[in-house]
Amino acid sequence: MIRRFKESAEGRFLGVFGKAHRLLATLWWGLIVLRGVLPAIFAVAMGLLVGAVQTHQSLVLPLSLIGVVFVGMNSLAPVHGTVGSLLGAKCGAWLHDRLMESSVSPDGLAHLERPDLADDLARAREFDQGLVAPPLEAALPYIANGFTDIAAAIAQAVLVMTYHWWAGLALGLAWGSTHLLLKESAMWQIFEADDVVNQRRHVEYAYRMTVDAPAAKEIRLFGLAGWAVERFTDLRRGLADILFQESRLRRRPLRWSLTLVIAGNAVVFGSLARDAVHHSIGLPALVRFAQASIGVALLAFGEFDWWFRGSARPIPMVLELAEQMRASGSVRSGEGSADRAPEREIRFDQVSFTYPTTGMKVLEGFDLTIPAGASLAIVGPNGAGKTTLAKLLCHLYDPTDGAVRVDGVDLREIELGSWRARIAAVFQDYVRFELPLRDNVAPDGAPDAVVHDALRRAGADDIASLDTILSRAYDGGTDLSGGQWQRVALARALCAVQLGAGVILLDEPTAQLDVRGEAEIFDRILEATRGRTTILISHRFSTVRHADLICVLDLGRVVELGSHDELMSPGGRYKAMFELQASRFYEEEVEV
Ligand SMILES: Nc1ncnc2c1ncn2[C@@H]1O[C@H](COP(=O)(O)OP(=O)(O)OP(=O)(O)O)[C@@H](O)[C@H]1O
Ligand SMILES: [Mg+2]
Repeated sequence: MIRRFKESAEGRFLGVFGKAHRLLATLWWGLIVLRGVLPAIFAVAMGLLVGAVQTHQSLVLPLSLIGVVFVGMNSLAPVHGTVGSLLGAKCGAWLHDRLMESSVSPDGLAHLERPDLADDLARAREFDQGLVAPPLEAALPYIANGFTDIAAAIAQAVLVMTYHWWAGLALGLAWGSTHLLLKESAMWQIFEADDVVNQRRHVEYAYRMTVDAPAAKEIRLFGLAGWAVERFTDLRRGLADILFQESRLRRRPLRWSLTLVIAGNAVVFGSLARDAVHHSIGLPALVRFAQASIGVALLAFGEFDWWFRGSARPIPMVLELAEQMRASGSVRSGEGSADRAPEREIRFDQVSFTYPTTGMKVLEGFDLTIPAGASLAIVGPNGAGKTTLAKLLCHLYDPTDGAVRVDGVDLREIELGSWRARIAAVFQDYVRFELPLRDNVAPDGAPDAVVHDALRRAGADDIASLDTILSRAYDGGTDLSGGQWQRVALARALCAVQLGAGVILLDEPTAQLDVRGEAEIFDRILEATRGRTTILISHRFSTVRHADLICVLDLGRVVELGSHDELMSPGGRYKAMFELQASRFYEEEVEV
């Protein structure tokens, strides 16, 4: 049973306390025990007081005891509350650390793309969202009070056992049974029932339809206001009915628990009354046991269950996520160094790849050799697999079959950090840091001269000062246009080249620039990265003609490969697309 509790959400939640802060956790539990025994001592002291009054003895000792216990009961509560808040904050921080580690530590990406893990991540975060229970710093003082009540109830049940062993046991079991019987009736459980969740979704949509902007035009144009409000009211009423039905279903356990509680108390208090009438129990003992018997009621199911179970529910998810994410998002990393790679070539060797989330084959037996120091442009329509190739080259996934080789060595044999340090990449969905321009260009730090030079090469030297934060959300910050952001991202790659990266990978870094802007930027990049292995990805055929090699990709296959001049031979795909797009490019130029 102890093992089962340890593995339960509640058991694992309690296990977090000591890991988050050992001293606070020890203090927190210690105060529970101390505050828990005080009411039993209070009952004993009350008995002593009544006895002393009855026998005309000195009242000093019982009164002092009552005073000390009373002050203790009242003064320890706020101390315990503070300890609970601090411990809750520590637990929250510890759990956040676990979640961040889970997301960040796998070297690949697959774990962040799985919808089930994304759902788990959202649910795990609930420990601090206030949806299933209050944040831990607010919850822990209440949970402490709940445990203190339980400890006090047990101590008083033990005291009642000194009257009759069965009396303490009967009261303990009667009140204890409410936890089992009423567990299901807690309100938050009702909110999780499938039909309630489903109905709430309908209600929510009906509500959004009346108040949110997207539907506002149609609601007004078609005169639907009355209909929308009525629909919401009906659905809302339906939800109330379902909630009522759900709670009705739980009435039977309520009857059972009332019966048990009444029976237990009737037997014990009946026995006390009979003994009192027959004078087989003195007044002090009567007071002591009656008070303690009432105190056992602290064991009853109540708010504590909501706080405790609600807070515990997301914890297993937090603790298990790390392992699941690691299993899903890790890529293989070897020992080899990539210090000077590539010296000869990068080769996609019969690479097949399937995204783990969809099971759809994006590449099959893909072969492509990129000579070291050359520039390669990969062009192809949307969905051809260009970004997928880029991600495989950065070793964000392991190929399903085949290998990406650098100078003949499988990337999986090379130490991941060493390979990634060689690559400067700008992806389609590059990150826009809400940080100063300087950090956007050189997140890892670089001399200002290098940062300025990179910005100049990217055609972005006048957009802002290096200290300007690139977001209006901050004092003195500024917003950039889509095209300006792309130039900043390019500057980031060019800066990395200055700092020693040997492979430059640009995945549609210029999609938001006009055709002429893209052609100009590509030419600048080729100029700035001469002698490095450069891979430019674009779906525009007309802008990459100065690359040494052009690879036309479609449906995960190389359709054509060669220099611009070679590919301009009659009948080819590249030639057709180039002429089509270039003619528009020239038209645009004439218009300007
Ligand atoms: N993370 C992902 N999970 C599942 N499938 C994906 C993922 N990313 C891309 N795909 C699928 O893989 C295929 C190739 O996508 P990819 O992004 O490599 O194309 P692309 O050539 O870069 O296209 P675009 O020009 O639109 O950027 C597409 O069918 C796409 O739906
Ligand atoms: Mg892409």
